[in-house]
Amino acid sequence: MARKPIMAGNWKMNLDHLQAIQVVQQLAYHLDTTDYDATDVVVIPPFTALRSIQTLIEGDRLPIGLGAQNCHWEAAGAFTGEVSAPMLAKLRAQYVICGHSERRTLFGDSDEIVNRKVRAVLAHGMTPIMCVGESEEQRTAGEQEHVVSGQVTAGLHDVTGDQAADLVVAYEPIWAIGTGKTATSEDAQVMCAAVRGVVRELYDGSVADSIRIQYGGSVKPGNVRDLMAQADIDGALVGGASLDPDDFAVICRFART
Ligand code: 13P
Repeated sequence: MARKPIMAGNWKMNLDHLQAIQVVQQLAYHLDTTDYDATDVVVIPPFTALRSIQTLIEGDRLPIGLGAQNCHWEAAGAFTGEVSAPMLAKLRAQYVICGHSERRTLFGDSDEIVNRKVRAVLAHGMTPIMCVGESEEQRTAGEQEHVVSGQVTAGLHDVTGDQAADLVVAYEPIWAIGTGKTATSEDAQVMCAAVRGVVRELYDGSVADSIRIQYGGSVKPGNVRDLMAQADIDGALVGGASLDPDDFAVICRFART
C-alpha cells in the first residue's frame, strides 16, 4: 500500500498569531491542488496561533492540516498552564506532536508521559506525531537503534494495531535538530527502517506498511529530495525551514519535477 507523504512544519516557540497568518497565507499562495493531492501539508503553530490558523484554513477551505506541539494527558483539571487533547480536538486540530526531544530533554517528558499523551491524543480522534531520536553521545556509542526502538516500544504501549496504523512517527536525531547537521539520507533510512521493523514486531506487516515515518533534523529545500527518495522515509518534520513559507513550500512540493 502506498503511503501518502506528510510534510509538517513545527514552528516551535516562534511566530505570534499575526505572523502565523501571514506565513500560512504565503504558503497557500505557493501550493495548488496537485501538491495537496501528492502530499499532506501540516502546520503546527504555538497554542496562541491555533485559533487564528484554524479560522484561516476553514474560511479559505485550505487543504492544510492543523497540529499542536504538545498536550496534557488528562482531559481537564488543576494543571495550570497546560492544554488538553479535547481542547485541541474542539479546535479541529488533527495532529499533536508527542515527545519532541525538546520536551523530553527540557520539560521532563519521559517515555511513560509520552505514551500517556499519545493515548490521550488517540482517544480524542487526533493523530499523534510521536517523536523519537538518539543523542549525539548515544550515536557515538553505537546505541541509536537500541535507544530508538525502546522509545517506539514504550510510546506505543497499549496502542492498538488499528490506531498505530494511522499514527505518524518522527525520527529526529537530537544532534541534527537546529544544528544544520543532517543525517545522511542513508543513515536516516537505516533508522526509519529500524522504526518500521519495531512496529512490525509489535503488531504485524500491515501496520508496519501503513504507519508513516518522518525524518526531522535540519530538513531544507536542498536535502529534501534525497531524503524522500528513501524507501522508509514518508515525510519530514521541519523546524527552522518551516518558518519561511517560500522554503517550506519548496519542501512540500518535493515531488514536482
Ligand atoms: P530543524 O528543522 O530546525 O532542525 O528542527 C527539527 C525539529 O525539531 C522539528 O521538530
